[in-house]
Amino acid sequence: MVWLSKIGVIGAGAMGHGIAEVLAFSGFKVVMKDIEDRFVQAGMKGIDGILQDRVAKGKMTPEQKKQVMDRVTGITTYDGFDDVDVVIEAVLEVIDVKKKVFKELDQVCPQKTILATNTSSLSISEMGAATKRPRKVIGMHFFNPAPAMKLVEVVPGMDTSQDTVDAIVELAEKCKKIPVVVKESPGFLVNRLLMPVLLEAVRALDEGIAPARDIDLAMKAGAGFPMGPFELADMVGVDICLEVAETMHQQFGDPRFAPPPRLRNMVKSGRLGRKTGRGFYEYAKEE
Ligand code: CAA
Repeated sequence: MVWLSKIGVIGAGAMGHGIAEVLAFSGFKVVMKDIEDRFVQAGMKGIDGILQDRVAKGKMTPEQKKQVMDRVTGITTYDGFDDVDVVIEAVLEVIDVKKKVFKELDQVCPQKTILATNTSSLSISEMGAATKRPRKVIGMHFFNPAPAMKLVEVVPGMDTSQDTVDAIVELAEKCKKIPVVVKESPGFLVNRLLMPVLLEAVRALDEGIAPARDIDLAMKAGAGFPMGPFELADMVGVDICLEVAETMHQQFGDPRFAPPPRLRNMVKSGRLGRKTGRGFYEYAKEE
């Protein structure tokens, strides 16, 4: 795939900067855009931290780290998007926000550019319809933390071309990920299987079956999960889990994926997980 060399990433949050790190580490030039400089700087710091961990473990030299960092440009405008080969969007999981971003990208990027979304549950076809290039719009869904998780769900919309699918599969492989092509459907594959566990864990907690710590322990020691459902929700973000559950609930209909009230109350009270210092657990400030 000689033609892919420069990739745009929209959003410098946990997923955006994680994806940017994966791409830069794999040798691509990356331009990462967010709406405010403080978000861009936080994302750049995040990438630096991931690479610094590798240096500390002796898996990379400081010089190699510098070379990777030099491949990433952080920006608040679309400067540099006029020659990107692919853009991966990782902004809020709100369809109107995503459609606005896709409309803008359609105007600033060359005709050849593939526009991919990291959405976990929204419609790829709807984002495609917001552009004049639906054949080049596709889902490329990474998992949190993107540098560590191997899977990428590749999700064609109704109008996505096979060439676009092939290019994104190849891009994922170039990044040493495992791509799985999944039909466009609510929650795709992983969230469809993972969300019931998470939502049932919240119900079990509400019913007093066991404390959060024990439910997490049970799923790790008894079902082989690397993290318990509450540890995972706190890492991914309780707000993100709620958004995904709500979208899937709307699309599948009652009672599937109905979010327990506790999730809504947690989001309203700012218990979003690690990023706000408390979720199902409390975290020290530096986490
Ligand atoms: N950022 C970057 N790299 C990270 C990381 C992070 N936040 N956390 C861990 N890693 C890396 C480590 O550096 C380490 O790399 P090396 O092997 O190169 O040294 C590797 O991952 C393993 O990490 P650790 O040894 O520290 O810890 P671990 O073995 O416990 O693994 C984990 C950590 C990979 C996060 C593991 O606990 C895990 O797989 N958890 C489940 C995560 C999961 O299910 N994610 C999906 C969430 S759902 C989602 O994302 C979908 C959605 O749409 C909402």
